[in-house]
Amino acid sequence: MKEINVLVTGAAGQIGYALLPRLASGETFGSNVIVNLRLVEIPEVVEKLNGTIMELEDCGFNTLGKVEAFSDIYKAAEEVDWALLVGSIPRGITINGKKIEERGDLLKINGGIFTDQGKAIGSKGKNNAKILVVGNPANTNALIGMTHANNASQTWMAMTALDANRAKAQVSSKINVPISEINQMIIWGNHSPTMYPDLDNALVKNESVSSIIKDEGWIKNDFLETVQQRGKAIIDARGASSAASAANAAIETVKATLTPTKNGDCFSAAILSDGSYDVPEGIIYGFPLRSTKEGKIEIIQGLEINSYAKEKLEITTRELLEEKEAVSELI
Ligand code: NAD
Ligand code: LMR
Repeated sequence: MKEINVLVTGAAGQIGYALLPRLASGETFGSNVIVNLRLVEIPEVVEKLNGTIMELEDCGFNTLGKVEAFSDIYKAAEEVDWALLVGSIPRGITINGKKIEERGDLLKINGGIFTDQGKAIGSKGKNNAKILVVGNPANTNALIGMTHANNASQTWMAMTALDANRAKAQVSSKINVPISEINQMIIWGNHSPTMYPDLDNALVKNESVSSIIKDEGWIKNDFLETVQQRGKAIIDARGASSAASAANAAIETVKATLTPTKNGDCFSAAILSDGSYDVPEGIIYGFPLRSTKEGKIEIIQGLEINSYAKEKLEITTRELLEEKEAVSELI
């Protein structure tokens, strides 16, 4: 059987706990692939992973290979095919008496983590490795990591699939269609309250979702605000940031890269802008993506962006350029 090495940082955290069994079970990489897990935690926490490892063994998965715990990212990154970078501080917690309210507050705290992680993955990871950054602020963390990895054969992504799923769930209950019938749900830009979930290009049976809904007020106000603020709503309700749905979105992103994307659909993730849709190069931006039969990830071209959407794309672009400026000493 084929074997792959999968690195997960923040493996003892909430998302890690929901993610690991689904990486190991065969669900993500297939029932004919052995998954070796390389779990990473900070030194103060790494011992806790022994409990996680025991639980993974006790699941009895046929597809689980070797599981190891590390606090040294350079050792952990050796020969990895995939890296899921979850480890970082979430919003909603208090540090030195200050409550971390906005993802922007996390920039300086979490950004530093990604310099060494990038260097380690770029130098020790396999060529063609894929990296999904989940830890916030995900887009800019991915930019920092990718810069330090300095390995053009690897693909760095930041997660926006959770936002796409949130958008689909809102549409499904508004127009009473199953989620499986909603295609091409694009999240443009940053995984932050400036993201733009695009209902003009989202499709149900090849018809634009905005033209099916015919309720501009709902689309421009209720829907947009609900999706943009969903992370905060969950933190307020649960006292902790989303974990099961975040882990689910990470699994879906990995699966989307492994399966060729159907015509008329896309998957959502943020990748390095190549200037498509007039987005400046050099930022990690949410685009409509397709994975090809050859396993490449491409930005889907030629979608229509109306003037309202263009304004929204510019707002989230500006925020990403500001984030990049704020961490300029890390890049
Ligand atoms: P958590 O606090 O439960 O777990 C984070 C874990 O990361 C902790 O165990 C911590 O020890 C570990 N960690 C911190 N620094 C590390 C480092 N340098 N190396 C390895 N491990 C490290 O948090 P969580 O709920 O699992 O969330 C993790 C991150 O994911 C947060 O930044 C959160 O905001 C983000 N998140 C992103 C999305 C998204 O859609 N992109 C969704 C939900 C959460
Ligand atoms: C989310 O969207 O649930 C996460 O990014 C957590 C947050 O801080 O919003």
